Amino acid sequence: MSEIAKIELDGKVYELPVIEGSENEKAIDISKLRELTGYITIDTGYKNTGATKSSITFLDGELGILHYRGYSIEQLAEKASFPEVAHLLIYGELPNQTELNDFESSIKKHTLVHEDMKQFFEAYPAQAHPMGVLSSMISSLATFYPESLDPNRSTEAKNLTVHRLLAKLPTLAAWAYKNSMRHKFMYPRNNYNYCENFLHMMFAMPTEDYHVDPIIVSALNKLLILHADHEQNCSTSTVRIVGSSQANLYSTVSAGISALWGPLHGGANQEVIEMLEQIHNDGGNVDKWVLKAKDKEDPFRLMGFGHRVYKNFDPRANIIKKACDDVLQKLGVNDPLLAIAKKLEKVALEDEYFKSRNLYPNVDFYSGIIYKAIGIPTEMFTVMFALGRLPGWIAQWKEMTENKEPIGRPRQVYIGKTSREYVPLSKR
Ligand code: ACO
Repeated sequence: MSEIAKIELDGKVYELPVIEGSENEKAIDISKLRELTGYITIDTGYKNTGATKSSITFLDGELGILHYRGYSIEQLAEKASFPEVAHLLIYGELPNQTELNDFESSIKKHTLVHEDMKQFFEAYPAQAHPMGVLSSMISSLATFYPESLDPNRSTEAKNLTVHRLLAKLPTLAAWAYKNSMRHKFMYPRNNYNYCENFLHMMFAMPTEDYHVDPIIVSALNKLLILHADHEQNCSTSTVRIVGSSQANLYSTVSAGISALWGPLHGGANQEVIEMLEQIHNDGGNVDKWVLKAKDKEDPFRLMGFGHRVYKNFDPRANIIKKACDDVLQKLGVNDPLLAIAKKLEKVALEDEYFKSRNLYPNVDFYSGIIYKAIGIPTEMFTVMFALGRLPGWIAQWKEMTENKEPIGRPRQVYIGKTSREYVPLSKR
């Protein structure tokens, strides 16, 4: 017999169904609440609201568990390639060799972007933030592929749009960087794998050969996998909301990129490095900055600390911290910011303020140090996050459209003025 929740309102008891997920997560189904009682629920910031049923990513914030389609993030980050993980998220299963070859070669067919798009880049100021450029460029893709405007076309047509997006985002991301320096764009090289090709477009110059370092490729592969999906976070919820209006996939993902840009979300990785640099330039007094973070009168927060759902540790942060030591050691990089980050983590984790609020380093705390070590400029950090998150956004959009979910439209409790008469201008 399935569980029932009882709610008493105005002296009357109503029964609401309880649904249970495959990992025993329980939810009260309130979809008929207003119809039955006239009441709605309120939950600003959706701290306690399940927006959908999903079979893509499972996470347990208390136990620090993260699974993509049932596979642990630890195993995937250690053993898989980013395209394998993208296939897993988008199509539900790890590909066999033939499926992986087909998937990768289909993506490689679309890595070029239309030459006309190059002119858009020229119009941006050199100091344009690459996230702004990327979001606009991705949205513009819809104007080059008008057949994508109807997201409900055949599976074949949907796949074409999905593969185009996976292929072109790295090109547009790398070009946003090249453009910021007014350097020549490097065209994609399809003999490279996904990560190698991106590094080539970022760092190769027409004047000299670029050696794609396998240590850097492997670090990038791991970082992209760790960022590939994270269930109903801010940018993914944005993607699902925008997609629910049946907007095309390019505009939908562009909205996700904009949401990711914010410093409380993906923009935190840039903020972390800037914060560590600030502490370093200020003499490296970590205790002073921890005090500032605790001071409610001071807007400063420890960037890369705290998470809406992880309350013991962020499993991605544990993997990244180890990878960070490993990559810096292999590349022979000695970054003083790493020492500051470790000290900051130690001090904060022993401090009552952080302990009592369950504030731990999140995925962004150490990722910036690796990005810095592999030569990615600070302004590109959030773009790197977008590159990793793309398969997750696509998978969530695909699931939502396939499940024919209704348009996303929350309600509100109105607290403004009640009805009043218009006062003519002369009498105000
Ligand atoms: N530094 C100092 N205090 C913090 C921090 C922090 N980084 N994060 C949370 N707190 C405090 C808050 O001031 C609040 O204290 P109070 O209870 O005394 O008022 C308490 O901890 C709870 O914080 P909320 O902001 O209510 O928690 P919420 O779940 O809404 O926010 C968030 C989570 C946005 C991640 C927050 O912890 C934060 O701003 N962190 C820094 C930015 C960051 O690293 N963002 C990346 C998140 S991971 C990602 O999106 C990929």
